Amino acid sequence: MKFAFLTISLIFSLQTSFAQKEFERNYDESKVPNFDIPDPLTSFDGQIIKTAEDWSQKRRPELLSFFEENVYGKMPSTIDDLSFKIVEEGDNAINNKATRKQVKITIRKNNQSLSYTVLIYLPKDKSNAPIFLSTNFRGNHTINADPNIILTDAWVPNTKELGITDHKAKESSRGTRTNRWPVEKIIDGGFGLATVYYGEVDPDKDDFSDGLHALFYAEDQQNPKPNEWGSITAWAFALSKTLDYFETDPAINANKTIVFGHSRLGKTSLWAGATDERFAGVISNDSGCGGAALSKRKFGETIAIISNSFPHWFSDSFNQYIENESALPVDQHQLLALIAPRPLYVASAQEDEWADPKGEFLSAHYASTVYNLYGIDGINTNKMPKVNQPIQNTVAYHIRTGKHDVTDFDWENYIKWAKKYIK
Ligand code: GCU
Repeated sequence: MKFAFLTISLIFSLQTSFAQKEFERNYDESKVPNFDIPDPLTSFDGQIIKTAEDWSQKRRPELLSFFEENVYGKMPSTIDDLSFKIVEEGDNAINNKATRKQVKITIRKNNQSLSYTVLIYLPKDKSNAPIFLSTNFRGNHTINADPNIILTDAWVPNTKELGITDHKAKESSRGTRTNRWPVEKIIDGGFGLATVYYGEVDPDKDDFSDGLHALFYAEDQQNPKPNEWGSITAWAFALSKTLDYFETDPAINANKTIVFGHSRLGKTSLWAGATDERFAGVISNDSGCGGAALSKRKFGETIAIISNSFPHWFSDSFNQYIENESALPVDQHQLLALIAPRPLYVASAQEDEWADPKGEFLSAHYASTVYNLYGIDGINTNKMPKVNQPIQNTVAYHIRTGKHDVTDFDWENYIKWAKKYIK
């Protein structure tokens, strides 16, 4: 009896210590492991990449394919039909400075369909304006108090502050995220803004029976295969299909679409920019682990932690790198390099150690060798700039004071940089 009790408590304590080890969070720079930065300019078979052509013909495709197969999962290559329907329009929005359009985008596959709505504001006093496109966290109706924005009927997370307890969006949550979306400032800057509620594409939960994935299963399939798309890829896929819509709308300058995202949606904007070269520019705001931050530093959030908390974001094949970062033949700077030579902005927040600001900065720096191959300036210093002092080249970086969030400081700098680099 006593023996049995001891055995059980031993097993229990082993389990707890395993769990604790798995969830270890390091915030101490001196404990960052030694690791080699995988060279963007040496191919997997050892060839040194010396020209932009070799990069785009050989190295870029093999890296893209690695990230597809082993990190985010492959997108489906075909759909049966894509259709667009303008469901609402207004020419007196945002203090009469913008037009508003809401377009329902429907993807059909295997006799099933999924629709989501993109909300679009364009400046009235500027035709051919470049446009920011982003997914959002809580519904299009949260980004502005505009009463004409259609309330989402998709699953939303329960949120006490917003009074949401039954996974249904409420009128009272209209405009509750305006702090992250300075629409008027964006319009005044000469840019359009378009956004999609990510939950309409794939609800953010570890469940692949709903959302976009379910349209693509073979008979008897219930989950993506190990190398097939997780949720980040589904959200990125929807951004690409939104760009397909932009290409059909003469009021939108599709060639100047800048894909933007915060946090998990910053991971999404990076992946969208990497997989779809039509995006003219890419912005990652506080994207952290699985986004801009180098995984091998194991600072703040790690692959083990993120895969435990959000297993549905990545492909199952990513699990092979849990507590095994040294086996990764790539790191996230090579994801950033896939965006070259297009403008790229990586941003961090000083109090957002979870996202590893230094790892985000170094990633932008190490990606810059590929930009340099094109004769373009990236982040050529390996010294982090001071807080609130952005470095803005074709590759840009800033770390601002404050916490994990999107602020006016972030947007003011994105606008300033995009005016210069999105031509
Ligand atoms: C969690 C998660 C991060 C993610 C963030 C967010 O903090 O660990 O990886 O970026 O949520 O999306 O807000």
